Amino acid sequence: MAPFRLLLACVPLALASITVLDPSDNADLTADAADNALEVDYTTDNGGPSYLLYNITGPYYYSDEDAEVSHQTLSVNANDTSVLVATDGAVVNVSYTDVVKKGYSTWLNQASFFGVNAAINVANASTAYIDHSNITVHNGAANVYSYGTGSTVYVNHTDLYSSGPVSHGLYASGNGTIYGSNLRHYSGGSRCSSFSGDNPAGYIHVTDAVAHTAGIGSAIFYTLGESYGTDVVGRAERAPSLFSDGAQTSVFENVDFTAGLLAGTVMFSSSTRSSGASLTFSNSRLTTLGEDMAALWFGNLIASATIHATELNTTSGILVIANASQITQSFDHFVGWEENSSIQPAQVSVSVTESSLTGDIVAYNGSSIAWSLAEHSSWTGAASFGRGTAYVGVTLDATSTWTLTKNVYLQNFTNADTTNSNIQSQGYSIYYNASSSSNAWLKSTNTSLPGGGRLQSY
Ligand SMILES: *[C@@H]1O[C@H](CO)[C@@H](O)[C@H](O)[C@H]1NC(C)=O
Ligand SMILES: *[C@@H]1O[C@H](CO)[C@@H](O)[C@H](O)[C@H]1NC(C)=O
Ligand SMILES: *[C@@H]1O[C@H](CO)[C@@H](O)[C@H](O)[C@H]1NC(C)=O
Ligand SMILES: *[C@@H]1O[C@H](CO)[C@@H](O)[C@H](O)[C@H]1NC(C)=O
Ligand SMILES: *[C@@H]1O[C@H](CO)[C@@H](O)[C@H](O)[C@H]1NC(C)=O
Ligand SMILES: *[C@@H]1O[C@H](CO)[C@@H](O)[C@H](O)[C@H]1NC(C)=O
Ligand SMILES: *[C@@H]1O[C@H](CO)[C@@H](O)[C@H](O)[C@H]1NC(C)=O
Ligand SMILES: *[C@@H]1O[C@H](CO)[C@@H](O)[C@H](O)[C@H]1NC(C)=O
Ligand SMILES: *[C@@H]1O[C@H](CO)[C@@H](O)[C@H](O)[C@H]1NC(C)=O
Ligand SMILES: *[C@@H]1O[C@H](CO)[C@@H](O)[C@H](O)[C@H]1NC(C)=O
Ligand SMILES: *[C@@H]1O[C@H](CO)[C@@H](O)[C@H](O)[C@H]1NC(C)=O
Ligand SMILES: *[C@@H]1O[C@H](CO)[C@@H](O)[C@H](O)[C@H]1NC(C)=O
Repeated sequence: MAPFRLLLACVPLALASITVLDPSDNADLTADAADNALEVDYTTDNGGPSYLLYNITGPYYYSDEDAEVSHQTLSVNANDTSVLVATDGAVVNVSYTDVVKKGYSTWLNQASFFGVNAAINVANASTAYIDHSNITVHNGAANVYSYGTGSTVYVNHTDLYSSGPVSHGLYASGNGTIYGSNLRHYSGGSRCSSFSGDNPAGYIHVTDAVAHTAGIGSAIFYTLGESYGTDVVGRAERAPSLFSDGAQTSVFENVDFTAGLLAGTVMFSSSTRSSGASLTFSNSRLTTLGEDMAALWFGNLIASATIHATELNTTSGILVIANASQITQSFDHFVGWEENSSIQPAQVSVSVTESSLTGDIVAYNGSSIAWSLAEHSSWTGAASFGRGTAYVGVTLDATSTWTLTKNVYLQNFTNADTTNSNIQSQGYSIYYNASSSSNAWLKSTNTSLPGGGRLQSY
């Protein structure tokens, strides 16, 4: 596959056009095409029980011992089997080593919740230090899995490559932690995020990485727990850059993400609507390619987001969508109350600082977006409603500006510049809800805005 071209982060500073390589450049993608076409369905045949069925095992098995593996090739070709397992307090160091895993996963819940079939499984308060290695999997398997409270994997200067479904690069669950740096990741299959957590939580810290996913449902980060990404260039061809399920935390700094399906980021709750999800981008760029893709998408969730010194580049012209909607296990479309009446609207607050953004914010069907611009931010765009009654509030500090591109109807409007000289109306008007207490400061004014529009109550 031809290298994909990306612009490095450091957005306003230096826009150097460079070519970024990932492990697919050295792989035989044609030979892996059948693997990458494999589909899975957790809801029917492939799911299996969500308690551990297997004894997690493999040819290199370390329990409660220290070990060192260096300049070796380790491999296995067997279903539901790992190459290397560290468990019960083991400390295992792997360096300058090639790890090659073949063999299928019978039950996907076993792979997801316990790391059955993962190339490297570090479990039950064990530690692994992995460096200068290549971890290659086929037929669907995680590259590196960390399971259980007290399990920690450090992995650096390492390439992660996978073909087949449900093959996350770094994958942590059961409160396990992974620190990765100087990584290059590629996955060709579906549901193969580069860096992923799973129930009840996984803690993922990645710095200095290139990540490239090709499949549906394969994000750069999948947060269940906490994800931290710094200096990461990521391209998800058929997925958002982030899926986050529930009240999770995702923090990205100096990243450059490109997303090809659904939205730039997709934050939701797969069960009852949770409250407390958070997302931060600073000194970063998020690009969405599809004509219907918002930069940030929220559904069935109460969440907050911070966008600091960050560029949101959308083909759609939509910055934010909050919807009474949900993502299904097929990861390729949004569904809502028409399929499941329990799904609730999203309530989102987005705080924008030191950023210049162009595009609309759109609330659907009972959802709300509280949109705040501060610290020398500028916004060119409008608020609108996708369907039904929804709520949008806009707050500006005196250093930030808003250029309207349509008439807008706001539940709340707050401007620290009480003369509204920081607004360019371009002839459009702001209509605000007369009965909302947040608008009391406006004293039901009906006044003109710079550029010919009006500010008046509805
Ligand atoms: C797991 O290991 C235990 C102890 O060695 C053994 O008794 C049991 O049969 C094994 N279970 C499976 C599913 O292999
Ligand atoms: C981790 O501990 C659990 C609970 O004792 C056990 O069922 C599981 O087999 C252990 N995992 C590994 C990889 O040893
Ligand atoms: C493994 O690496 C760690 C960190 O570099 C080091 O402290 C430890 O002594 C190493 N253990 C072995 C068995 O080589
Ligand atoms: C890992 O793969 C790269 C690129 O193919 C190669 O240069 C390097 O020698 C490999 N390292 C190991 C430990 O096999
Ligand atoms: C391994 O899994 C594959 C795919 O499910 C299956 O076709 C094959 O028979 C399994 N192999 C063994 C030895 O069970
Ligand atoms: C890479 O990991 C090794 C231990 O495995 C550690 O000694 C080294 O400092 C790490 N290097 C970086 C750049 O993080
Ligand atoms: C994860 O943490 C929770 C809360 O501390 C704990 O109840 C649970 O047993 C932990 N799970 C594992 C697999 O360590
Ligand atoms: C319907 O949505 C609720 C809330 O998200 C979820 O808990 C439930 O599992 C969904 N039901 C089905 C059949 O998907
Ligand atoms: C926005 O992204 C598109 C698609 O990648 C790219 O062609 C365009 O140059 C980007 N615009 C900016 C201002 O970066
Ligand atoms: C919004 O939600 C509706 C209803 O669930 C759904 O059909 C539609 O695809 C969603 N659209 C977006 C852009 O989220
Ligand atoms: C979403 O719209 C549908 C159809 O108009 C309606 O039945 C449903 O109650 C709405 N949901 C919310 C939360 O507003
Ligand atoms: C509008 O202000 C009210 C009162 O402060 C608040 O409860 C509501 O959440 C705000 N709505 C939006 C969309 O900002």
